[in-house]
Amino acid sequence: MEEFEKKYPFLRACRREPTEYTPIWLMRQAGRYMKEYRALRKKYSFLEMCKNPELAAQVTLQPIEKFKLDAAIIFSDILIPLDPMGVEFDFGKGEGPVFQHPLRQMEDIEKLRIIEPEEELSFLMKAIQIVRKELEGKIPLIGFSGAPFTLASYIIEGGHSKNYILTKSLMYQNGPAWDVLMEKISEVLIRYLSAQIRSGIQAIQLFDSWVGCLSPGDYEKYILPYSQKVIEGVGKKVPLIHFATSSSALLGLMKRAGGDVIGVDWRINISEAWARLGYGVAIQGNLDPVVLYGPVDLIEKEVKRILDSIAGRPGHIFNLGHGILPNTPPDHVAALVEMVHQYSSKFPLSPL
Ligand code: CP3
Repeated sequence: MEEFEKKYPFLRACRREPTEYTPIWLMRQAGRYMKEYRALRKKYSFLEMCKNPELAAQVTLQPIEKFKLDAAIIFSDILIPLDPMGVEFDFGKGEGPVFQHPLRQMEDIEKLRIIEPEEELSFLMKAIQIVRKELEGKIPLIGFSGAPFTLASYIIEGGHSKNYILTKSLMYQNGPAWDVLMEKISEVLIRYLSAQIRSGIQAIQLFDSWVGCLSPGDYEKYILPYSQKVIEGVGKKVPLIHFATSSSALLGLMKRAGGDVIGVDWRINISEAWARLGYGVAIQGNLDPVVLYGPVDLIEKEVKRILDSIAGRPGHIFNLGHGILPNTPPDHVAALVEMVHQYSSKFPLSPL
């Protein structure tokens, strides 16, 4: 690790070291709630922006120029590695991705390609390099991928799903096909995340956004081995944040799967989540994104409640419990960042 990286509050918190204030970044911090983003989106499609390194770098930096965030996250999408794997998709007019040919049987799954990320996703690696140059000495850059279950759910369902009937049915009814699919996705993710690290990424977030639809027993049997394989395969080169929503019942198992930081949503009190996880991992979260619609008094009350419950214990990264929503007022984001920095700096620095 470079000498200057040791001082970044975000990276220190990932390692559970004391910081002067609680670091904060926001999932989906670059996006539609910013007029700068919407202006670019008038000219380019979302995927065009992801695939153009200069544009992706520009969008990554938009929230950093506006707010005093403690980390940047590279602008891309969890679905980006699926295209070179042979799974085509597009973003339709409505909300969310649409897949032309969802994969639901062994013969389709066997055709999935193991990718060479540095060549086939060179635009992302280039974007990372551009952003790293811009951010040098200021704040660190987070890279990311979906986790095996969340990616499998898009590949099988062909888009977003309410009950994950097709995904779970494949899992329950066709164990061999499920294992081939999860093996292939895991192998791709190890390569993909390792390539991001080689390109300059300083921390990783693994998004298992939809895994909360599973029982603990099913998570342990069908998911944990693969998430663990990815996390172990990537190794300990940079800190890894393991995030899921609706995951209260899965926390112990997610910790077993791995990660230096566990990301939680607002459906559980963060202090309770941390007590359940044990203090051997750091924690990230967990403001309800809807609180950011305001009023500012409510945001302040919720920030204080979260920070008071953490009580200055080193190893907390402030974030929303899920991505920032499209119509969030940007001045509320500015207020949030300020409040978290201000209020957290009153806690003593020493570990509890
Ligand atoms: O956090 C960041 O700012 C980095 C960029 C980022 C995006 N997507 C940009 C994006 C990240 C980390 C993601 C992750 C992602 N993508 C997840 C996991 C996190 C989560 O929210 O649960 C998932 C499930 C996806 C898949 C995806 N991408 C969906 C379902 C959609 C459409 C609905 C929506 O939320 O917008 C996207 C599109 C998308 N990804 C946009 C952005 C800025 C909006 C594109 C646009 O219309 O401009």
